[in-house]
Amino acid sequence: MREGEIAAMRQNYTIGELLESSAPSEPWELFSSWFEIARKTKILEPNAMILSTVTQDGQPTSRVVLLKDIDKSGLVFFTNYLSQKGEQLAHNPKASILFWWEPLQRQIRIEGEAVKIDEEESDTYFQSRPYGSCLGAWVSEQSQTIVDRTVLEKRQIEFEKKFADSNVPRPDHWGGYRLVPNKFEFWQGRSNRLHDRLLYQMMQDSWVRVRLAP
Ligand SMILES: Cc1cc2nc3c(=O)[nH]c(=O)nc-3n(C[C@H](O)[C@H](O)[C@H](O)COP(=O)(O)O)c2cc1C
Repeated sequence: MREGEIAAMRQNYTIGELLESSAPSEPWELFSSWFEIARKTKILEPNAMILSTVTQDGQPTSRVVLLKDIDKSGLVFFTNYLSQKGEQLAHNPKASILFWWEPLQRQIRIEGEAVKIDEEESDTYFQSRPYGSCLGAWVSEQSQTIVDRTVLEKRQIEFEKKFADSNVPRPDHWGGYRLVPNKFEFWQGRSNRLHDRLLYQMMQDSWVRVRLAP
């Protein structure tokens, strides 16, 4: 790459707008309508979202997880409770979620606290997963150091044998979290970097909406 080539990379965003006159007063309504549009757009995994958590010494850390359910109380994702993110959330439930839907020139930032969902809810989702994914939850000690891939291959054989005559049960260390938001920011790219940003904040049990400068 030649010098300055990265600096010269830029897009002008022109396909949409986000105005107070058409934005609902509640963020959930706007989230649902943007999510529905993203679902109908050619995006490989519109439910892929960047989840950021914080380590005990204050280091923010991010990774992609999949959104698996939405309701007015929060956004649900599933993972290994003993993973890095699981341990971080156990110490500090504050987390953020970020969606970037490039073809729509839209970003959504969400902040709040993540709480473990009910065991029954985790069971129901776990049982809806394909066999290989259920087995994977036993095979992978997520975020632990392993010597090489043979560790996974050996454990796969071990658990295939263990559950040969039964359904794969949900391991206790695997389940869902619901991020309960207190902030949503909707960003729509506009021309000349004068983007639209509407921030919804939960204040005394109701959502307050303001516009932020881009
Ligand atoms: C598209 C995509 C979807 C993913 N979905 C999940 C998921 O739903 N749950 C999960 O635990 N990890 C998921 N991962 C893997 C995580 O990004 C991450 O590697 C893993 O959860 C370990 O993170 P941690 O060490 O910070 O706990 C996904 C990765 C990608 C790229």
